[in-house]
Amino acid sequence: MPEKAKPAASQPIGIFDSGIGGLTVARAIKERLPKEKLIYFGDTAHFPYGDKSADSIKYYAIRIAQFMLDNNCKMIVIACNTASALAYDTVKDFVGKRALVVNVVEPVVSKITAKGHKHKSVGVIATKGTIKSDIYARKIKEADKAIEVTSLATPLLASMIEEGFFNNKISRSIINSYLEKPKLKKINALILGCTHYPLIKPEIEEFYKGKVELVDSSDEVAEFVYQQLKKNNLLNSLGNKPIHRFYISDYTEAFEKSAQYFFGGKIKLQEARIWK
Ligand code: DGL
Repeated sequence: MPEKAKPAASQPIGIFDSGIGGLTVARAIKERLPKEKLIYFGDTAHFPYGDKSADSIKYYAIRIAQFMLDNNCKMIVIACNTASALAYDTVKDFVGKRALVVNVVEPVVSKITAKGHKHKSVGVIATKGTIKSDIYARKIKEADKAIEVTSLATPLLASMIEEGFFNNKISRSIINSYLEKPKLKKINALILGCTHYPLIKPEIEEFYKGKVELVDSSDEVAEFVYQQLKKNNLLNSLGNKPIHRFYISDYTEAFEKSAQYFFGGKIKLQEARIWK
């Protein structure tokens, strides 16, 4: 099949996640790049990705990438750590030159290993899929062998947040029982390796009381998106009050309720029946 011509600056940015977590990334991109049109896709029909096989995640990610291409996106942001860890190369190969592809792991690794950093011992909390892939430890070690990385799968957190369950007694007790694990005792920075976790950042901050630096991907990814668009002459300088579109693959009430909170503004959800 002949490849389409290079994308143009006026085209939208596609952003996807297994659910609403990626809206934390979409929100940061909207704030950093207010002229860009965004198309968001939450694959609620297959949430959670964290417990699925790599083959399933690759399959979902390719179908969603096709949806983004059909919607004329100039860039596809994989706003999910699990899909970034397991399907980034596959999506990049599939998309080719038709759009830029960005994952959420690289910008965080760049921040942790930036010149002059003071990170000695870094913890990572994420889904089972992300932790099993060992992506953060591998990438951090590749950039700086001296940084010690301790990873912990925290599989209950994304589902808890997706259900709108945070900032209460039960969420605090689940978060604390993970963070109290002895293996995380000596870290001086913690990567929130799941795009759902910015929603529980206040509770994690409360646990560490400022003694551990918390690193989440949203602002790092937004800056990375800006740099990539600029480098490729794809920044939309003409857009004025862009209209964003939000899709989910299966309607759930929890999504409807939490989505506005995650994105920080009014949004209208549509079901994209790409699997039905
Ligand atoms: N938001 C996804 C991530 O960043 C995790 C949620 C899931 O398990 O689907 O990994």
